[in-house]
Amino acid sequence: MTKIMDEGIRLHDFEPKADNFREEVLHGLTQPQKTLPCKFFYDERGSQLFDQICELEEYYLTRTEMSIMCQHVGAMTQLFGPHCLLVEYGSGSSTKTRILLDHLQEPAAYVPIDISREHLVRSAITLMMNYTGLQVLPVCADYTQRFTLPKPQTTAARTIVYFSGSTIGNFQPHEAQAFLTHIAHLCGKSGGLLIGVDLKKDIQVLEPAYNDARGVTADFNLNLLRRINRELGADFNLEQFRHRAIYNEEAGRIEMHLISECQQVAHIDDVSIPFNAEEHIITEYSYKYSLNDFEQLAARSGFKVQQVWTDAQQLFSVQYLTVSDV
Ligand code: AVI
Repeated sequence: MTKIMDEGIRLHDFEPKADNFREEVLHGLTQPQKTLPCKFFYDERGSQLFDQICELEEYYLTRTEMSIMCQHVGAMTQLFGPHCLLVEYGSGSSTKTRILLDHLQEPAAYVPIDISREHLVRSAITLMMNYTGLQVLPVCADYTQRFTLPKPQTTAARTIVYFSGSTIGNFQPHEAQAFLTHIAHLCGKSGGLLIGVDLKKDIQVLEPAYNDARGVTADFNLNLLRRINRELGADFNLEQFRHRAIYNEEAGRIEMHLISECQQVAHIDDVSIPFNAEEHIITEYSYKYSLNDFEQLAARSGFKVQQVWTDAQQLFSVQYLTVSDV
């Protein structure tokens, strides 16, 4: 559904209903291993906390990706060519996108897609003010679900999807494959995908990135319970849960947990959720890939890796994928 906002912006609104939130939260918390979907981190406060995480000393991902982007943006936009439609999944504050927008040759339009409505609208307004003449067509959606993309006013030469920040790591491998396959169809033969992928590395670097000294990641994780309390009338006692992130070397992923400090019962309306002391809720996986792992995942999803850019320490990679012929 298209809504014209006060600011004159056309928002394509597929914001998930509160019912979906309740259903998914209850489903996750009533399984033998309790889980909560990480996509629900990003309410207004969660999005602000995530922006703070990106600035943390320990969280090497954002600044490393930024420096790769700054260094190689010329080569990237050369590969995209003129008049492309830039579609960004999980656009957030569109910070990294600005590097691309500054270099793109006459883009047909920019389509930022994000689940956090207020954050999306605010960023879209700022972009429209900063890039006069650029058609910005924001879409509020849970991008793991199906929705339709808005059409730009001018015909695009090709569709380039941008998926930064290693958010692909937050999908389980089978979900990542399904998601990338969907993107390959969206890009079509002439299009491509520019994707940020975090790389496997020493546990001594990985774990602090998700257990920062200032406790911003802990606040981000606990904010999920705060959101459930506010939006679903639940009574989680935030003082009685603590955050912990561990690297599961065998699975190649960071696991974010909320751990119950004691035996307790939380309530969501009339549903009781009992916890044993030290019981964990898994709130997020963040998979780390080797270049070879990711190439294989891309191939299974119908993509061919055209170009890989990394930093000197091989902490992070930005990769350009095109749709393979076979
Ligand atoms: C969004 N995503 C790529 C982040 C990550 O690193 O997996 C989310 C995050 N969780 C804790 N810190 C950052």
